[in-house]
Amino acid sequence: MLGPRVDAEAKRTACVLAGVATHARPIERSLALRQAAAAACELVASLSDLAPAVAGEGMPAESTSQSFFRVRERELSDQQAALHGLLVIHRALEDLCDAPLSGADLALEVAGMRQSVIDLTGASPGVGRDVVPPVAVPEPGTGVSLESVWSARWLIGHQVHVLFNVCAAVAVADATGHLRHGDSDAALRRLGDATVYVRGFPAAMVHASTIPADYYRAAIRQSMAPPSVDIPLSGRQHRGYKLFRAAMRDLLSVVPDSYEHLAARAPKLAEARGTLLEADIVDGERHVTLAYSMVHLDRSIAQKPEGPDNAVAELRLMRHRRAAQYASLIRFGDHYIADAVAQLRHS
Ligand code: HEM
Repeated sequence: MLGPRVDAEAKRTACVLAGVATHARPIERSLALRQAAAAACELVASLSDLAPAVAGEGMPAESTSQSFFRVRERELSDQQAALHGLLVIHRALEDLCDAPLSGADLALEVAGMRQSVIDLTGASPGVGRDVVPPVAVPEPGTGVSLESVWSARWLIGHQVHVLFNVCAAVAVADATGHLRHGDSDAALRRLGDATVYVRGFPAAMVHASTIPADYYRAAIRQSMAPPSVDIPLSGRQHRGYKLFRAAMRDLLSVVPDSYEHLAARAPKLAEARGTLLEADIVDGERHVTLAYSMVHLDRSIAQKPEGPDNAVAELRLMRHRRAAQYASLIRFGDHYIADAVAQLRHS
């Protein structure tokens, strides 16, 4: 616990976030988002009163990708981790007031944000949102060019993605630890939390990409390739995502059983693991269609011009490998792809 004031602000932020996606009409939705941004801003202020934020610009980046996306790595106290997570959430909520994200993705992204607020502050999730007292909502800002909003959005969406990657890695590692110690109730809870984050991955990815594809191709893409940066950037370089993949490998080393075997001895665990793995496959699937919308059949900036694949083909391969690996672990496995991948491996 970070003190009663932070606890109260965190509960309120979590409650406001829970209500955002229930509004279908744009005006109400925008107001709900501004309410959530204002609540997050007050939580940031309460956390900053305990200790100021670390100045990330003064810290060395671990990679060109981190430098580009304004991401840094370092051990943080609980208060600092909560503060930096909330800063990301606050900026993202402000941007979402104007970003034309679909209602379904908005629901997934704010659910991930709500889970981060709970995990980072240790606040117990509130019940019912009708008890939330209103917060003062500032008027939306004006006078910023659309191009700078889109460029900022590309970074903001990536930062939410990193936040979700790291929080998901922690949730999966916790679940694995609980399974190793035989605490299945705690493991089920953390697998559920991890699923909220993994469902948020494609929502954050789509948030980042809620910009005109022409602008992405004409301006943003070039800024991620030499001579603007020393090496071409690729999603593969995201270290938070690698942390998540390592946590998933460890989880599956502890519960490698097929869906049927696991369901026979621990049905709730089979369902919880299956739900998480399905979310991971769908993330891969949505990455394919997102890249197609942005760059059509081009090779990515990180691929060799003479290589066998373009961006979409590489992402599709990633989806197929993941679906093949999980086919026997989930209820509705893609056995067609699993058989094809196995045959290719043996040919
Ligand atoms: C907010 C998060 C992300 C967004 C918005 C995003 C978006 C995109 C886009 C637009 C492309 C096409 C690139 C181009 O040619 O211009 C792409 C390609 C690709 N992305 Fe992502 N991506 C994200 C995260 C990740 C992560 C975490 C991975 C980790 C494996 C990843 C792996 C790839 C790969 C392998 C390609 C194709 C080849 C390459 O560029 O290396 N992406 N992504």
